[in-house]
Amino acid sequence: MKSTAFFAALVTLLPAYVAGQASEWGQCGGIGWTGPTTCVSGTTCTVLNPYYSQCLPGSAVTTTSVITSHSSSVSSVSSHSGSSTSTSSPTGPTGTNPPPPPSANNPWTGFQIFLSPYYANEVAAAAKQITDPTLSSKAASVANIPTFTWLDSVAKIPDLGTYLASASALGKSTGTKQLVQIVIYDLPDRDCAAKASNGEFSIANNGQANYENYIDQIVAQIQQFPDVRVVAVIEPDSLANLVTNLNVQKCANAKTTYLACVNYALTNLAKVGVYMYMDAGHAGWLGWPANLSPAAQLFTQVWQNAGKSPFIKGLATNVANYNALQAASPDPITQGNPNYDEIHYINALAPLLQQAGWDATFIVDQGRSGVQNIRQQWGDWCNIKGAGFGTRPTTNTGSQFIDSIVWVKPGGECDGTSNSSSPRYDSTCSLPDAAQPAPEAGTWFQAYFQTLVSAANPPL
Ligand SMILES: *[C@@H]1O[C@H](CO)[C@@H](O)[C@H](O)[C@H]1NC(C)=O
Repeated sequence: MKSTAFFAALVTLLPAYVAGQASEWGQCGGIGWTGPTTCVSGTTCTVLNPYYSQCLPGSAVTTTSVITSHSSSVSSVSSHSGSSTSTSSPTGPTGTNPPPPPSANNPWTGFQIFLSPYYANEVAAAAKQITDPTLSSKAASVANIPTFTWLDSVAKIPDLGTYLASASALGKSTGTKQLVQIVIYDLPDRDCAAKASNGEFSIANNGQANYENYIDQIVAQIQQFPDVRVVAVIEPDSLANLVTNLNVQKCANAKTTYLACVNYALTNLAKVGVYMYMDAGHAGWLGWPANLSPAAQLFTQVWQNAGKSPFIKGLATNVANYNALQAASPDPITQGNPNYDEIHYINALAPLLQQAGWDATFIVDQGRSGVQNIRQQWGDWCNIKGAGFGTRPTTNTGSQFIDSIVWVKPGGECDGTSNSSSPRYDSTCSLPDAAQPAPEAGTWFQAYFQTLVSAANPPL
């Protein structure tokens, strides 16, 4: 727990926050909200529910009467879980409602995917910087293609609350139910076999408790909006590292904590009705014949330990990677692996899961898989030169095992920096097949985005 001195210090800062203006799509009020209560010009603070007012573009339909309550402070978020019904009223929060029961169907069926306002803004700004009008308009169209929101730090969780509130409001106003796509990505000692995606928590410094608090905060947001469906990818690379990288000391040390944290995420997100896909690496990692059985054993064990919840739908593959779902011919770098693309990998892995009693289904990232045969080695993963946007998200996948083709990685956000002096430098990002100079992981990489647009396959 943080000291009371910390909270006291925070409270003294509050007037400074209140004085600022929230950005477009930012939160500008609500019970417990202590941030800015006015919006930048061109947007209007609009009450979406008692917990959220948001700066929406244009002028108001309803002007806000901002509800500010500083009383419960920072800890109010996690205190919603298991809260009594005393707060429910006709205008009260919906968080006390139980989530809908699990559906055996494809989670996307009957829902429209909510577009991340953050990514849409990144893309709109990027398109404005492109002088060629044809390329610029193609670039702008990417804002309409759904990606996932990466909750890669605790600081991003309020954005999730904002998106859920917007999605709920949109669902009510249009009559089309909304689905929000997120990535759970904040394990302590994250990215144990590489450096570019080091996280904010360390196992040595209270990492597991911090992670549980991170999940609790996400759960508290989601349970306020049972009308919005949430689909989550769980912890990219984590379990795959436990299959093949226990020779790396940091991964060996992390094993017990990773398993405990993933179990905490699965069991608690299931309670609020989140449909989940655990990350399963890709064909060039766990798809090697020697890795398939150990991978299947680990995934089914994790699923069993999490109570075999029907909300744990299956596995996500090729997240932020560049493999084809179905390659026209094997890329020469895949030589020796009969599972040379994602469909071969999935067709090999799914029956092993079924043998263990799990009818798992898959989602596959194709966001940057439009161009093939561009890597020097299969293990290269950083800002691959010449990559293009790939197959658009669709539930029309051609495979009984695949629920949806998705874009998990928001294309244009960097995989890792090529600056060798940066603390998060990974030498993979300076290989000859990596686009350079590249900024820090997660930040916008304009030149790379422009290549993704011009090389898109199918074309934009
Ligand atoms: C590279 O990283 C170092 C250390 O963070 C920084 O001082 C330097 O400005 C960076 N160089 C470039 C070109 O961004």
